[in-house]
Amino acid sequence: MCGIVGYIGPKEAYPIIIKGLKRLEYRGYDSAGIALSNGDLRLYKKAGRVSDLEASVKGLDVKGTIGIGHTRWATHGEPNKVNAHPHYSQNRTLAMIHNGIIENYASLREEMQVRGHNFLSETDSEVLIHLIEDVQQSESVDLVEAVRIALNQVIGAYAIVILAKGDNDTLIAARKGSPLVIGIGEDEHFIASDATPLIEYTKNVVYLNDEEIAIIPRNGDMRIITIADQEKTPYIQELEMNLTAIEKGGYDHFMLKEIFEQPLSIRDSMRGRLRMAQETIALGGISEYEDKMAAAKRIIMVACGTSWHAALVGEYLFEDIARIPVEVEYGSEFRYRNPIINEDDVVIAISQSGETADTLAAIRMAKSKGATIIGICNVVGSSIARETDAGSYTHAGPEIGVASTKAFTAQVAVLTLMALRLAKKRGTIERTRFHHLLYELEQIPFKVEKTLDVNEKVMEIAKHFVNTRNFLYLGRGYNFPIALEGALKLKEISYIHAEGYPAAEMKHGPIALIDENMPVVVVATNKGTYEKTVSNIEEIRARKGIIIAIVTKGDTEVKRLADYIIEIPETEEMLVPLLASIPLQLLAYHIAVDRGCAVDMPRNLAKSVTVE
Ligand code: G6P
Repeated sequence: MCGIVGYIGPKEAYPIIIKGLKRLEYRGYDSAGIALSNGDLRLYKKAGRVSDLEASVKGLDVKGTIGIGHTRWATHGEPNKVNAHPHYSQNRTLAMIHNGIIENYASLREEMQVRGHNFLSETDSEVLIHLIEDVQQSESVDLVEAVRIALNQVIGAYAIVILAKGDNDTLIAARKGSPLVIGIGEDEHFIASDATPLIEYTKNVVYLNDEEIAIIPRNGDMRIITIADQEKTPYIQELEMNLTAIEKGGYDHFMLKEIFEQPLSIRDSMRGRLRMAQETIALGGISEYEDKMAAAKRIIMVACGTSWHAALVGEYLFEDIARIPVEVEYGSEFRYRNPIINEDDVVIAISQSGETADTLAAIRMAKSKGATIIGICNVVGSSIARETDAGSYTHAGPEIGVASTKAFTAQVAVLTLMALRLAKKRGTIERTRFHHLLYELEQIPFKVEKTLDVNEKVMEIAKHFVNTRNFLYLGRGYNFPIALEGALKLKEISYIHAEGYPAAEMKHGPIALIDENMPVVVVATNKGTYEKTVSNIEEIRARKGIIIAIVTKGDTEVKRLADYIIEIPETEEMLVPLLASIPLQLLAYHIAVDRGCAVDMPRNLAKSVTVE
């Protein structure tokens, strides 16, 4: 969601901010804007892409060594120029960019309107910058104090950066709920929603904590105070990311690059953890909590979107081999439905970005009730990673494509390691079986590589479905969450309506939809329920549905029935999700490309959903 970039230093701010906004495009947005200063204050805004903004400022004055830029994902008010950020204060002495939602904006707006404020946009953000200037003038305080007082009056989430007219030497930033990171260079500072715009300039960063305000000077060290007016020492961390990880590297799209990175990302997520020689699994980040997890009466997995599908695979794994009851919850439902949470509950939050507002709120709620919180996140230093008691990073590297691919398989890989580790600890798995599963898991990156050979075949298959309007995805057991994930991928990037179902549930509704125009993707690799899946395929065939089947190499039975066959290497049933998800990612990708869709930045979607 909304992207924030700021710069103060000796260089021209405009090119740095534009480049930074482009790096943040993947977060999802619908308009963009920039404010620059040379002692004056100049705002440029545009609905559409950052490149549209760039084109619109051609020939205009973009000089200045201090500036802020924003990509907006509309919440309050449609995505047009007026609602785009930055926003001015009433007297145009301040400009502000904002990510988050000010929940009490309507009452604040009304109060200020009574006092003569005139609002140009429909946004909650404009209300906040009016409030800040209002406090500054009515209470005769400096800007930092005005920001502090105003932030004490707002309810909601924010990451903000403020640029003041006449002050060429300071940027003020603050955060609560929405992420903000400050990069420290040589006599210069960078600000951004995440580290991607910063890494080409500096590796030293400070992640702002909730309710902190940073006063960032042109020269010298930044200061941090809290909104309760306590001084904080900035904690400088070193980024581990590198530039190649966030560039396309010859691929047409980030999504395709990330699909092809999966042999590596799965290997990285298991590196040092899967120890074949010692016949063990070591998860350093959760070692102190393993006893608690192994003794838990139940584990609750909380997530949203694709990560929720990884949680479903996790449920099957944990119950299957570690014999621990698992409940899988959407963050958004869990946080509001008054669930029963006990002190001996363990909650595992799964999130690629580590910033998803609903997942974050869900773990805060569970924590307040005494539960132990474990995280599985991809972004190091993210809010969820920092607020959990312990956790295991997925180490998939930055994921730029909005539709999650390599982060999903990395989550599944880490959940597999966790399930195996707990199974060993609880004695619910025999030694030979454990050993065999370790061996098979170690082979997975090689098998993923082999699976990727289906790319060209999938590309051919995709051509037949460019104008299709509906798709059904079916799977049983471990392949049921994969069917859900396959359908989600297609929906997200091709805008074709797709539904995922447990194969046997087809007869309770979706079968009514099947005719000669309905493609049904069946993940038919299961060993345990293979025959039953074959029967489901017969049922589809009897109704003339078009069958695209994902099967294990060497399959003959399904081959006989299906219109299109995609083969994946043989593996243990519980590891199939790591392979079967790959042709489904490719199928969605190629259909979307053939339909001319913006694969990496699908309409209306955001990579990091920082509002509820
Ligand atoms: C958004 C993204 C999805 C992602 C979901 C959860 O909807 O577009 O790809 O699965 O958020 O995000 P998280 O970062 O918590 O995994």
